[in-house]
Amino acid sequence: MTSKIGVLDFGGQYAHLIASRIRRLGALAEIADPETLTVEEARSTYAGLILSGGPSSVYEPGAPASDPALFSAGLPVLGICYGHQLMMHQLGGTVETANTHEFGRAVLHVSRGEGILTGEAGQTASVWMSHGDEVVRLPEGFETIASTDDCRFAAVWNAARRLYGIQFHPEVTHTEHGDLYLKNFIKICNLEGTYRLEDFLTQARSRLAEQIGDRSVFFLLSGGVDSTVAFTMLTDILPPDRLYGLFIDTGFMRKDEGIAVERALKSHNIKLNVEDASQVFMERLAGVVDPEKKRKIIGDLFIEVQAARVLKLNLDPARWMLGQGTIYPDTIESGGTKKSHLIKTHHNRVPAIQKMIDEGKVIEPIKDLYKDEVRQVGTLLGLPDELVFRHPFPGPGLAIRCLCSDSVEKVGSLPVPKAFDSLLKAHNVSCDILPLRSVGVQGDQRSYAHPAALHASGGVSRASLLEIARALPNLDRSVNRVLFLVGGQRPSQVRKSTLTIDRINRLREADHAVSAFLFEKQIYDTIWQFPVVLVPLSTKAEDGDSVILRPVVSADAMTVSPYPMTEEHLAELSKRLLGIPRIESVFFDLTTKPPGTIEWE
Ligand code: XMP
Repeated sequence: MTSKIGVLDFGGQYAHLIASRIRRLGALAEIADPETLTVEEARSTYAGLILSGGPSSVYEPGAPASDPALFSAGLPVLGICYGHQLMMHQLGGTVETANTHEFGRAVLHVSRGEGILTGEAGQTASVWMSHGDEVVRLPEGFETIASTDDCRFAAVWNAARRLYGIQFHPEVTHTEHGDLYLKNFIKICNLEGTYRLEDFLTQARSRLAEQIGDRSVFFLLSGGVDSTVAFTMLTDILPPDRLYGLFIDTGFMRKDEGIAVERALKSHNIKLNVEDASQVFMERLAGVVDPEKKRKIIGDLFIEVQAARVLKLNLDPARWMLGQGTIYPDTIESGGTKKSHLIKTHHNRVPAIQKMIDEGKVIEPIKDLYKDEVRQVGTLLGLPDELVFRHPFPGPGLAIRCLCSDSVEKVGSLPVPKAFDSLLKAHNVSCDILPLRSVGVQGDQRSYAHPAALHASGGVSRASLLEIARALPNLDRSVNRVLFLVGGQRPSQVRKSTLTIDRINRLREADHAVSAFLFEKQIYDTIWQFPVVLVPLSTKAEDGDSVILRPVVSADAMTVSPYPMTEEHLAELSKRLLGIPRIESVFFDLTTKPPGTIEWE
């Protein structure tokens, strides 16, 4: 039966998000390869097709394209951004480089509330744009149903052939009525209410059972939601003697991390094996500064510790597979799909693991899900809220939230770009370019650049800070983050520093103080994630650090904005953190994603 939608992946970060949104709206969707999908296959597999956005230009040599005959297959087709331009181009319209590149918010004026815009007649709504090219002439049989000020053909259709094209992105939460447009498309495909997450569980169970066959699974638990959910799914299909769960204590966990998992699994009668590997993790990371090196060492060491345990238990490698709780954003950010770019290597995507994946020796029960879907599955499986709704925490843990430096660098040694002058002056704010770097993502590419740290002697409004934070990374590419000093002294230098037990403990205390504060003020659940980052910024050459607060709001970790903490909360929290010995100053990270990632390394 053709009861699903095929999402043709033209690159960029969004094809998978489209599929995930469609599933959440009640229809099954999966990613399909545009370059190999034939008309016969499309007809026998799908009830409708979505052509995703992507970074290419339709006229570029080698730009990805699907078979134009797909538009005559009798299936409803929705083209989004690049997908829209490709459909217009292949059907005889014209696409050109736009006079105005549109990135970000635009206002959509709906002239005809039909097709995918049913229910929107005469409305205006915010939509999210990200394009350099645009359609300038429609193919025959197409009509405009909505426009923005800068884009005449923002939404078009050919009613008779059920072909729809939109220039904006309905899949991101910043598009106000995006869910409605996608729901309308699901209706057009006759798939309304045909899929529930329970179905995912049923299908996943039979798929996993088939993939595992008569083998057994050695599963790595990290202490977080993802691996616990994935592991619990496996306990439903494998008898206890064919499933071995190992929790490797890296020494980089949050306070009381392991306890919550052990308690949750105990309530399911599942035994967890714990290996204390903290000493060897610390030894291997001594003196390592580069984030990608740190991530690789940690990922490889996970495998090494696991292999040693396998050897000790005398498990036959031909009969045992490796299980892990990878979720979709881990894959995409590790450059793990055909057309995506490496942002950072997640610990469960290092080369040693990739090799095992290629050999069919890895099982990843939730690798196609986003965090909120994982949480729903966790609840369906009966895991406690305390675990399911914990903030996400990266596998490499506090190690990638503790920055190191192999040299002393004076604050002030890096010039403030001239391009910042007028904006800073207008808001009466000063700025330092800090001589340390963090990871970011700009235009689907990884960046590793400096933070700008703002400070104001007089007061400055939140609106001004956010406006400056948005502008600076666009004005000069040497900056990918913007911070604001909220407490303590203005640091004078980056000191020489490595990863030490003392610094990790300092960070763990700071992280714990932040979590306790969020629970006390009852704001924990309104925040997606709250990394607390320790950086070797101090006023002296001795052992002092600064703390960066990075609370974010998000729906899926793909795009984020800073959580708007009140001034009172910030002042109180910063006072508590400055009470921790050797923490000298506290900064707030004002950066959205993009251009900054959630984590600093
Ligand atoms: P970024 O920093 O790339 O993070 O915006 C997106 C989400 O992924 C988490 N993250 C990781 N999770 N292993 C994990 O299990 C990793 O190596 C890793 N790196 C980042 C991050 O905390 C955020 O939720």
